[in-house]
Amino acid sequence: MELILLGPPGAGKGTQSKLLETRYGVAQISTGDMLRAEVKAGSPLGLEAKGIMAAGGLVADDLIIRMLADRIAQPDCAHGFILDGFPRTVPQAEALDQLLHDTKVDLDAVIELKVDEPMLVERISGRFTCAKCGTGYHDKFKLPHVANTCDKCGSHDFSRRPDDKAETVHARLEAYRADTLPIIPYYQAKGRLFTVDGMADMAEVESQIEAILRQVGVPEPAAV
Ligand code: AP5
Repeated sequence: MELILLGPPGAGKGTQSKLLETRYGVAQISTGDMLRAEVKAGSPLGLEAKGIMAAGGLVADDLIIRMLADRIAQPDCAHGFILDGFPRTVPQAEALDQLLHDTKVDLDAVIELKVDEPMLVERISGRFTCAKCGTGYHDKFKLPHVANTCDKCGSHDFSRRPDDKAETVHARLEAYRADTLPIIPYYQAKGRLFTVDGMADMAEVESQIEAILRQVGVPEPAAV
């Protein structure tokens, strides 16, 4: 399965792509997570990306495209991948087409998660993650079962992303409108674009996505 999840900050791309990774056994690739790992490691790419991410802007296309090309060449992508946060500009979408063409791989679908802006702001401002294993939570929509304890690893240490501050969220939404929305007609013209109601609860969004995957002929997980 080769799938793109598209949508503004807070639309649920990370949430749904992690669910799909578990269910379908294909690699989830989040360019945001990869960049945050580079920032944490203090690599040259991380140093370049840090200020841009903190301000809510987009990292340069050439850097991102190189990083993505290296990533999808890894063995765990041989049976497919779910892209979360890439492509984010028309040049990134064009570069992906070239990479897929070179490796003789076809995109199954580009799924846009549609969520209105007040909800995006609410989702982002309430989001936090386990600092140890990265499991995602939300102050209102997804609290740990036991207060202050990660459901997955039992850690009591949680963190919030520095770019989830209200003023940065608005810059990120503006970058989405200016640079990422133009890729919607790009994929529409290729007949690959599907839209789901990202305002629905997580399970309902997941089942809408799975219905699209069935429609485009992705094998059911049991048969994978
Ligand atoms: P990135 O990490 O990709 O962030 P983003 O696109 O802003 O997306 P988010 O991670 O904020 O949201 P999401 O859609 O994954 O939502 P989530 O599932 O967490 O990018 C960060 C930065 O890196 C960018 O600003 C840019 O600087 C740089 N960057 C990354 N890729 C780049 C690229 N290709 N080119 C250039 N620069 C790049 O959900 C949010 C919250 O809502 C969670 O708490 C979740 O629990 C909750 N939630 C999710 N779904 C539901 C639901 N259905 N109902 C209720 N709550 C829900």
